[in-house]
Amino acid sequence: MNSINKSYTLITGASEGLGKALAIECASRGMNLILVALPGIELHQLSSYIRREYKVLVYEFGLNLTIEESRHFLWEKVMENNLPVTMLINNAGIGNTYDFDECDFEIYQCQIQLNVMATVHITHLFLPELKKHPRSFILNVSSLCVFFYLPKKQVYGATKSFIYFFSKSLRKELKKYKISVTVLCPGGMNSNPSFYLLHRSGSWITQAAAMDPEDVAGIAIKDLIRGKERIIPGKWNRFFLWLDTMLPGWLKTKITDRQMKRLTKLKTDQLLKGIILNDNKEAA
Ligand SMILES: NC(=O)c1ccc[n+]([C@@H]2O[C@H](COP(=O)([O-])OP(=O)(O)OC[C@H]3O[C@@H](n4cnc5c(N)ncnc54)[C@H](OP(=O)(O)O)[C@@H]3O)[C@@H](O)[C@H]2O)c1
Repeated sequence: MNSINKSYTLITGASEGLGKALAIECASRGMNLILVALPGIELHQLSSYIRREYKVLVYEFGLNLTIEESRHFLWEKVMENNLPVTMLINNAGIGNTYDFDECDFEIYQCQIQLNVMATVHITHLFLPELKKHPRSFILNVSSLCVFFYLPKKQVYGATKSFIYFFSKSLRKELKKYKISVTVLCPGGMNSNPSFYLLHRSGSWITQAAAMDPEDVAGIAIKDLIRGKERIIPGKWNRFFLWLDTMLPGWLKTKITDRQMKRLTKLKTDQLLKGIILNDNKEAA
């Protein structure tokens, strides 16, 4: 067993989509897991499946990470159980595709709490643990949208830009501790039925570029272990970035505006679920 096999990989937002695919990818490489998602049967089913199929150790935590105390609780439990964490994957995140004034403020609050605050807080809590090991890794999930200023993605895009800057800057700082920080910038992924429908409602370019989370996860873990600074999975997504450097600004704006107009509004089930959980906690 190498040091990765003896240690744990902590993945947030692990019950479905990219997080689930990352969990399975890590388990297939013999890594033990700490999986976190909102409370629900999916996380439990996934943990049981992984234990059975891959014979690795799995801890599961059903927690709402928009709540500060939940993040503390997670850290306390991991410390109590003396789980050596050498890989931290901040994947939990929620997006939406609405005009700014179409969404309630609570939606944005929840999005910022999860996409930004949870990533910063969990990284801060687990950094001393990551520093203890000869080699550790942090993977932060941003988005390809940070390179384009898209309408209907104002707050989401800003949260992901934060993650991009945070990761690139932190990477420089943590190099001396042999902690490799990587930022993943996926384009559209068919990570759940809502996203599948969203991408289907787009143009042929959107449909062709949308990737399966399993493919993104495979690329992400391989490149994370290699210590890559930035991962842009998929040749279409890299082509879009290249095109962005070639086209004049007015044409880029015209193209992106047209693409975004075609997309149907993504119903923010996840956001609402998070807010309802928050409300219940406050009411309790
Ligand atoms: N899908 C795309 O097209 C796309 C593109 C670029 C970047 N990304 C980014 O990739 C990451 C994963 O996206 P995805 O599409 O795979 O997401 P997803 O399918 O919606 O899954 C989100 C995961 O996060 C968990 N989660 C949601 N709210 C939470 C909360 N308050 N506390 C704890 N866990 C919570 C969910 O748990 P439950 O299921 O148990 O509720 C689920 O496991 C996100 O950071 C997203 O911004 C996605």
